[in-house]
Amino acid sequence: MSTLQNQITLFIFIFIITHTFTSINSSTPFVAPITRDDSTSLYTITILFKTPLQPTTLLLDLAGKFTWLDCTSYTSTSHRYIPCNSNLCTSLGSLACSNCFRPSGPGCHNNSCALFPENPVIGNSLLAQALVDSLGLSVVDDGRNVGDIGLVPSFVVSCSDESLLRGLPDGVAGLVGLGRGNYSLPAQVSTVYASPNLFAICLPGLASSSSGAAFFNTGGPYYFFPGVDLSSYLVYTPLILNPIGFTVITYSGHPSDEYFIGVTSININGKPLEFNHSLLTIDENGFGGTRLSTVTPYTTLETTIYNAFIQAFVNESAVLNLTITDPVSPFEVCYAAVDVYSTLIGPAFPTVDLVMHSEDVFWRILGANSMVSVAREEGDLWCLGFVDGGETPRSSVVIGGHQMEDNLLQFDLVSMRLGFSSSVLVHGTNCASFNFTSS
Ligand SMILES: *[C@@H]1O[C@H](CO)[C@@H](O)[C@H](O)[C@H]1NC(C)=O
Ligand SMILES: *[C@@H]1O[C@H](CO)[C@@H](O)[C@H](O)[C@H]1NC(C)=O
Ligand SMILES: *[C@@H]1O[C@H](CO)[C@@H](O)[C@H](O)[C@H]1NC(C)=O
Ligand SMILES: *[C@@H]1O[C@H](CO)[C@@H](O)[C@H](O)[C@H]1NC(C)=O
Ligand SMILES: *[C@@H]1O[C@H](CO)[C@@H](O)[C@H](O)[C@H]1NC(C)=O
Ligand SMILES: *[C@@H]1O[C@H](CO)[C@@H](O)[C@H](O)[C@H]1NC(C)=O
Repeated sequence: MSTLQNQITLFIFIFIITHTFTSINSSTPFVAPITRDDSTSLYTITILFKTPLQPTTLLLDLAGKFTWLDCTSYTSTSHRYIPCNSNLCTSLGSLACSNCFRPSGPGCHNNSCALFPENPVIGNSLLAQALVDSLGLSVVDDGRNVGDIGLVPSFVVSCSDESLLRGLPDGVAGLVGLGRGNYSLPAQVSTVYASPNLFAICLPGLASSSSGAAFFNTGGPYYFFPGVDLSSYLVYTPLILNPIGFTVITYSGHPSDEYFIGVTSININGKPLEFNHSLLTIDENGFGGTRLSTVTPYTTLETTIYNAFIQAFVNESAVLNLTITDPVSPFEVCYAAVDVYSTLIGPAFPTVDLVMHSEDVFWRILGANSMVSVAREEGDLWCLGFVDGGETPRSSVVIGGHQMEDNLLQFDLVSMRLGFSSSVLVHGTNCASFNFTSS
């Protein structure tokens, strides 16, 4: 062999040992880290975006229709605008075509397809141009980040500007939408990889020093330290469609992008609460039912359900010799932490079960998820982390972030079902135990 051939062989050899090429296909699992922002009690997700790929931290919005980001100072060699009369613009359900009178660039083009990105925290929206650019997600295998990247070359996002970032965690550039629609992040991944539209999230608990995880392009396994596959603990309940969407901008005839489930009863220590159960079904105006929301920090219950809930909880806690103390807003039921036993699954309090379509299918909420630790000079408290949702809320029950932490939730848009694990602490792991170190 000539010297040149030797050099080429050596080069290829080095290249292969430094880059493991997995072939990326319809079942290659992708993962992205989720962080809890303690000052807002909101969650962020970090994806790779643009060319060259840049880590981009965005608010995680389970109900978001599409992804949007502030396009001020946007640099990428791969972005393209979406012309108004294109098929893509039509299928995006765009309500507007826009021109731009600033210098041409990302988010500023004539005859550009425009969207209305929404901020669910402040309930605001604005008109901005859509574009496509490269999305990258880390490839994972057997609970290990293998160091490869799966690309979605023409990922559709909407631009926005800085004004839409109000109320979001510091350092966040926009929002990732994981809603039911065709342009949510999981839906676009599924289109590109011809894979089932299904994803899972595991939100990290308060004070977790590591990240939780979102999984795309895979129905499992989902390995967490020390080698626990959380997919094996999932139980399933149907996802319910709300035919009425409640976006800031109304898209007539479009159903809601949010996820609803059919809770039929709420039990405390196995005893069903008494309230008007028709509140748990979605009426013709889209009101009622049980919704999941990552932008609601604590589960909210319609007033009559809430009152029955706290009464029964206080009553059941009294059986454990726990007496309530002065509460701390926004909570109404608090206990002195010194009186409470702590366990590996949180403080010992009555169990709360959200019973689904069948008696034996329930989401069990234990102390770590039902109670919130409140630090006070006079002594720490455990407060019941549920709040009054008011007399005529849009959804009677809104399951909030605190109740979803350290639970694995799988959204399966093929079988239209939610897989839920209840607390994974029971299985000796937590959502912050996914190994993000790449090999
Ligand atoms: C859009 O068209 C107008 C009118 O022709 C022009 O003045 C403007 O510079 C164009 N904008 C961009 C971003 O090309
Ligand atoms: C979403 O995509 C599916 C499959 O391609 C299509 O049948 C459906 O009409 C689309 N939905 C909307 C709202 O465009
Ligand atoms: C239960 O709630 C439904 C819907 O809010 C209402 O129409 C019905 O009258 C209520 N039933 C009772 C017994 O209060
Ligand atoms: C309170 O607890 C007692 C004893 O467990 C039970 O008999 C009673 O029905 C409870 N009341 C409520 C409102 O839960
Ligand atoms: C509650 O307190 C009473 C009286 O101090 C005691 O007899 C009982 O065992 C206690 N119950 C529990 C569950 O700790
Ligand atoms: C995490 O993964 C890396 C790379 O595969 C490996 O070297 C490391 O031992 C793993 N850490 C744990 C705690 O399993």
